[in-house]
Amino acid sequence: MKKNRRAIVRPAGLDAVAEAGRILRSGGLVAMPTETVYGLAGDATSDLAVARIFEAKGRPSFNPLIVHVLGRAGADGLVELTPAADALIEAFWPGPLTLVLKKRTDCPVSELASAGLETLAVRLPAHVIAREVMAATNLPLAAPSANRSGTLSPTTAAHVAESLGGAVDLILDGGPCPVGIESTIVGVGEDALWLLRPGSITASQLTDVTGLTVKFRSHQHAIEAPGQMQSHYAPDAPVRLNATEPRDGEFLIGFGEVLGHDSLSESGDLVEAAANLFRLMREADAERPTAIAVAPIPETGLGIAINDRLTRAAAPRGAT
Ligand code: TXA
Ligand code: MG
Repeated sequence: MKKNRRAIVRPAGLDAVAEAGRILRSGGLVAMPTETVYGLAGDATSDLAVARIFEAKGRPSFNPLIVHVLGRAGADGLVELTPAADALIEAFWPGPLTLVLKKRTDCPVSELASAGLETLAVRLPAHVIAREVMAATNLPLAAPSANRSGTLSPTTAAHVAESLGGAVDLILDGGPCPVGIESTIVGVGEDALWLLRPGSITASQLTDVTGLTVKFRSHQHAIEAPGQMQSHYAPDAPVRLNATEPRDGEFLIGFGEVLGHDSLSESGDLVEAAANLFRLMREADAERPTAIAVAPIPETGLGIAINDRLTRAAAPRGAT
């Protein structure tokens, strides 16, 4: 991907949608309108595409991303659908409702997209352009709001161009987003629903459809709200940071000059390192080492998000 380019904005006609499909299938990024806000889409099954999303957004930590799917069938391949989930899908999809469900063990989505969690957020947008783009790729698309981290969500193509500029390969202009605020996010449990982010679909609508009580996000249920928990994904093995040599029984994850038993990126590329992070942590853990040692990662660009996640993984266990 070339950097420092001007954003390419195209009206979302047939040709532009077809081009968006080609870009996404080859691992690039496309900003597309949804009914809520513009999303920054990438192939959810590609570690590198997902890492590029985080880089483009300048996210200081790896929040899990919403994966956009083409309906129930698309969701079924990724998450375990429950009767309550089916009722919500039937009532509100396509539309501004995101469901957080248990990931299937054979889920093909990048570990980085779900930030190493056991759950995955899925939604089917109502916007015709978003659905055309999804149909053109036939891929689950990870798509956070198409803005730099910490800035307002974009509701026009011009907002996206101002915020992300050349960090995105193509911006599809489909006019202003009709809803204008992000989707309602609901965690679907066995006997309750968790409202993780309020949106235009309300708690009482969720109860009407499922008969389940809606509870609000709290620190006790922080697993559903990963950003709030100090160690939401911790491997079984303890984690030692800023290591340059492995100690006895350790698995050393390298970066750049520190080669290790396996490397996040031998060339010291932070996008590649982010793409490999969660997968390598799991692979290291599976070796049952006395500890997972990790080479120093520079605290710049995506390195900030990588270090944020590593610090959480190394935090004392049980901390909230
Ligand atoms: O309307 C929307 O949902 C837009 C459009 C583009 O679809 N997308 C959006 O994505 O707002 P984003 O990444 O800006 O916000 C996603 C939120 C984050 O706050 C994240 O923490 C939460 O969803 N999230 C994603 N996966 C989750 C999970 N497995 N458990 C709990 N929260 C999750
Ligand atoms: Mg956002």
